Amino acid sequence: MTRMQQKETSPQETMLQMFTAYWLPQAIHTAAKLRVPDLLKDGPRTAAELARDTQTHEDSLRRVLRTLSSVGVFAETEDGRFGRTPLSQTLRSDKPDSLWGYLMLVDSEWFWRAWAQLPHAVKTGQPGFEQAHGQTFFDYLSRHPEAGETFNKAMTSFSTISGSEVAPERYDFSKVKTVVDVAGGEGSFLARILNAHPHLRGVLFELPPVIEVAKATLEKGGVAVRCECLGGSFFESVPAGHDVYMMKMIIHDWADDQAVRILRSCRQAMREDSKLLLIEQLLPERKLSGVQMFIDLTMMAMFGSKERTATEFQVLFAQAGLELTRTIDLVNGYAIIEAKPRV
Ligand SMILES: C[S@@+](CC[C@H](N)C(=O)[O-])C[C@H]1O[C@@H](n2cnc3c(N)ncnc32)[C@H](O)[C@@H]1O
Repeated sequence: MTRMQQKETSPQETMLQMFTAYWLPQAIHTAAKLRVPDLLKDGPRTAAELARDTQTHEDSLRRVLRTLSSVGVFAETEDGRFGRTPLSQTLRSDKPDSLWGYLMLVDSEWFWRAWAQLPHAVKTGQPGFEQAHGQTFFDYLSRHPEAGETFNKAMTSFSTISGSEVAPERYDFSKVKTVVDVAGGEGSFLARILNAHPHLRGVLFELPPVIEVAKATLEKGGVAVRCECLGGSFFESVPAGHDVYMMKMIIHDWADDQAVRILRSCRQAMREDSKLLLIEQLLPERKLSGVQMFIDLTMMAMFGSKERTATEFQVLFAQAGLELTRTIDLVNGYAIIEAKPRV
């Protein structure tokens, strides 16, 4: 069929595709959880071989792979084998820079249950997560270590998307001596910064249960000798007197009043010449598009929070005694947002 002959999609068909869109991720999760992308690393394989290795039902697996091949996740060969594609490569569980960790979070039943409460979040302005689980997101992670581990791995997995790889080179650290990563998660971002700038010393500040994981990451990254790990809550205080305070993907987890409290803690810890660096998705003031809009809805469902524009960050900074000095674009709409104490 030529392009001209192709049938136009009717509004019904388009809408059907839209509201059944979760069928596709279910198929992707199924194949990824069975680690099919890993199993294809040496070339195309038959459904029978893959079913044997994954201990699954051959015909059902073949139908899932055939469907995923139709949208480019795998490639079906003329003789009916399934091979890898650039898309399936992003789901390898054996590659550190893959999206596997993030997929495992999105696929978690406890995460999904909060998304199912989006109508509640819209009705009340309260987090869907708390309606689903009767506790906040981070309390839940502290009480469920497996969920905490999934979340920490997801954050590390998301690093490539959020610009962690380029951020250490995009900011001039040459005159900086010490940097605090406030709520630095597993520690991979701080390890990256310290490795890129051998003169720097670092402090990783996190909730106590996450600190032990971070220590191991910093050790593995070869920077533990230049880094102190401190447990605590940014609602109480943050280690004082350092040159640079970084918060990567933190402020978007919190509604405005809590975000201002966190920023005030940082402001109190900062010297007059300290800098605050937020690494966040910076929404355009108008005409949003793509995945950033759905990340904003995820923030609503999980935390009752939001992605923000530069203007919205300026408003928060002003309430915390800070002022925005500049923004430095990273990748995929993420940016370094620099602020300093307002005098
Ligand atoms: C979205 S993750 C970002 C982690 C890390 N900055 C990154 O980008 O990979 C949010 C982090 O905030 C931490 N956190 C939550 N509440 C906190 C609190 N009250 N004090 C300090 N850290 C907190 C969590 O443990 C979690 O690691």
